Amino acid sequence: MCGIIGYIGEKNPVEVLINGLKCLEYRGYDSAGIALKEKDEIEVIKSVGKIVNLEEKIKSQEIMESHLGIAHTRWATHGKPTEENAHPHTVGKVTLVHNGIIENAEELREKLKKEGVTFYSETDTEVVAALINKYDKDNPIEAIEKALKEVTGSYALGILFQESEDLYAVRKDSPLIIGLGKNENFIASDIAAIIDYTNKYLLLEEREIAHITKEKVEIIKDKKVIGKEVQTTNLERDAKDKNGYEHYMLKEIMEEPVVLEKTFKPYLENLDNLPDLTDYEEIHVVACGSAMYAGMIGKTLLEEYANTKVEIDVASEYRYKNIIYDRKTLVILISQSGETADTIAAMRKAKENNVDTLAIVNVKTSTIARESDSQIFIEAGPEIAVATTKAYILQVGIMALLAYKTALTKGLVKENEKVLQEAEKLPRLIKEVLDRREEYKKIAKGIYNKEDIFFIGRKIDYATSQEGSLKLKEVSYIHSEAYQAGELKHGTISLIEDGMPVFAIVTDDTIKDKTVSNIEEVKSRGAKTIIISNESWENQKLQIVVPKISPYFQPILIVPTLQLIAYETAKLRGCDIDKPKNLAKSVTVE
Ligand code: G6P
Repeated sequence: MCGIIGYIGEKNPVEVLINGLKCLEYRGYDSAGIALKEKDEIEVIKSVGKIVNLEEKIKSQEIMESHLGIAHTRWATHGKPTEENAHPHTVGKVTLVHNGIIENAEELREKLKKEGVTFYSETDTEVVAALINKYDKDNPIEAIEKALKEVTGSYALGILFQESEDLYAVRKDSPLIIGLGKNENFIASDIAAIIDYTNKYLLLEEREIAHITKEKVEIIKDKKVIGKEVQTTNLERDAKDKNGYEHYMLKEIMEEPVVLEKTFKPYLENLDNLPDLTDYEEIHVVACGSAMYAGMIGKTLLEEYANTKVEIDVASEYRYKNIIYDRKTLVILISQSGETADTIAAMRKAKENNVDTLAIVNVKTSTIARESDSQIFIEAGPEIAVATTKAYILQVGIMALLAYKTALTKGLVKENEKVLQEAEKLPRLIKEVLDRREEYKKIAKGIYNKEDIFFIGRKIDYATSQEGSLKLKEVSYIHSEAYQAGELKHGTISLIEDGMPVFAIVTDDTIKDKTVSNIEEVKSRGAKTIIISNESWENQKLQIVVPKISPYFQPILIVPTLQLIAYETAKLRGCDIDKPKNLAKSVTVE
């Protein structure tokens, strides 16, 4: 969601900035812009839509030679995706780019208007530019400090001052790093944007201000210059390339066997490497989107097999609810990016209530990874496609291991259960499932021109259905809903029409007969059923059968089929698979 890149150095900034913006495209955006500075002149170029539009606009005009610039991809929040609203914004002598949301923007706008400022956009960002400009006498750091004292909300800012040759940056509740090069330095929303130039960077913490020249970076906190540890990323340059696949989504699905093996390794070697959930009287799982659905699978497994009650909530609700923390509670936060604004707020709420927090997270330098009390890192590597795939599988995998360990600690595991041996087989079995693309293409051909699709299942199969449905609507834009199979007849079944596809997930033996009745109910109303199961079905034309495995891991073999069906369907519909409309990879605003 919104991306920032800034450059100061000896190269042509246009090249660096455009390349950086392209690497940030996956975060989601609807307009883009760039500002270049030389001496006391600043030139701003913006355009709506894809970065190629901006590139073309730059090519079509004579632009200044410079060695300093900032650029931005905007995902509209305050105001439509128009050129006026696109960043950078200039007010007086200040030009800046912004990620985040200024909560008191309207109040500040009114105040500044009365002081004579004219605004040209509907954005909250222009208000920050005006405020910094108001305090810009001759000390940029002081101007930033003074202005931000009046601001509430979240921000990562890259700032140019007309009368300074340097680059400035500051952040609160929105990520920003400072990349370190030789005779050049960078700012970026994430390391992917600058990995082609450097693997060294500084993590800017809350309210720290960076003063950057091509030779030096100074970090200022509470008016003092502070020291910072230089971080090195082991992200490979080509990790963000597609490796010959047509889309990142496909590449990332195909990586599932390898990343699962890597993530599971330390825990299969020794389960003691996982935290002991039996230390707690209450478990809360909090997350957003697919991460929340991974949590739903974890909740089902913990309750079903480890006799452990779990409360689950989407972070945007949890953060504002009256949560009663009257027992020894652990809050588990699941997040690929570790930067989802609502999940961060939920974590902070738990911490303010002195409740332990455990993060299941992919990005090790993220806010959630840094602020949570303990962490389990999934080893997904960079995930570029907006729709999560491999990270979701790993989140489910970790929840499954936690459930198994809890059952073991409580003495609930039956002697004949060989759960860890089954876990070792998983990478090979996922690969087997992934290799059957022709089957998924065939299913996709049958559904790609439909307008509504249902997914049904019971218990864990319902949790899996939810992710299947989300994936399909995210990438193919087909309306779809996941329903508890038994609940469908209480209203929703009225929507079932002749030929409407209904995916039924059936893997839980204990409840299979009940789901079979629900399948019959929709079939008799004309639905075209597609059964995804761990055993083959007689007299069922459309079915996908995955290997049967311990129930702890069964969703890990079912979900890749749903991911690939969503992918193939989106492809047939000509959708922008890696960057679906209106979506953002990392939702850094609430
Ligand atoms: C966005 C993404 C989803 C993701 C959710 C939570 O909506 O498009 O794919 O599941 O955010 O993201 P997180 O980084 O916290 O897992």
